[in-house]
Amino acid sequence: MGYKCIQVDTRDHVGLVTLHRPQAMNALNAELLRELVEALAKFDADETIGAMVITGSEKAFAAGADIKEMRPKSFVDTFRDDLFTPEHNAMLRVRKPIIAAVAGYALGGGCELAMMCDFILAADTAKFGQPEINLGVMPGLGGSQRLTRFVGKSKAMEMNLTGRFMDAEEAERSGLVSRVIPADKLIDEAVSVAAKIADKAPLAVMATKEAVNRSYETTLAEGLLFERRMFHALFATADQGEGMDAFIEKRSAKFRGE
Ligand code: HXC
Repeated sequence: MGYKCIQVDTRDHVGLVTLHRPQAMNALNAELLRELVEALAKFDADETIGAMVITGSEKAFAAGADIKEMRPKSFVDTFRDDLFTPEHNAMLRVRKPIIAAVAGYALGGGCELAMMCDFILAADTAKFGQPEINLGVMPGLGGSQRLTRFVGKSKAMEMNLTGRFMDAEEAERSGLVSRVIPADKLIDEAVSVAAKIADKAPLAVMATKEAVNRSYETTLAEGLLFERRMFHALFATADQGEGMDAFIEKRSAKFRGE
């Protein structure tokens, strides 16, 4: 493996990626992002893995893009190199579910990375924010778009314009995170939730992820049609027969991803 800025582990068919730049609050530099998307792509291609978890440290999930690395860049550098676009698109190409397990700071690009995951489990210590405005810039990986869809215009606008942080309780109340968990149980709980997903029929899991994500991209009528067609398509899988037989025979299903 030989990663420098992340640690990678597998547990119960779950791929666990831990962001690891303790000296910089897990700030997202180019190397970390390159390693992260490489590790996720490897887990996505690995048939023994059914879901992934991205986490950070107790102090920080990630405190944003690396400000020291960004400081010398010009407009020409960022535009010519299409800063952060390849990593953004690589994250979206991952077809298996990714859970963000957030403790401590998830700020700027850190908050945006968490929002690019399929759902967020937050420790009671989590703090979310888009403080780019304090640096004379603005979000570049979804803070003005995904956050607005998740928490609504008023709260997203306030957070983006003032840089105010949101604690875990407010994040749960406003729909940014699915659940709040005591910090010392966060990783175990996230891995256990991911393991539950990994135990389901893999094709149904991928189709479900695609359908929920489609709801952000299309009209209700088109989204409902897409959902129903995917539902129909799953009747072409062996796992549909196995899942329904298992229910009728009062046993647990053994899905094979076929
Ligand atoms: C580079 C960072 C960093 C960052 C923290 N550090 N955040 N380095 N980029 N985003 C470094 C600090 O410089 C310091 O290094 C060390 O981590 C510890 O941080 P402290 O500030 O001393 O810790 P603390 O006082 O506990 O404050 C924690 C903090 C603060 C609230 C998270 O560090 C902070 O405000 N960080 C910046 C948050 C931010 O503005 N994020 C948005 C970035 S822009 P030294 O060497 O001094 O010990 C962005 C754009 C996204 O994300 C665009 C698309 C990706």
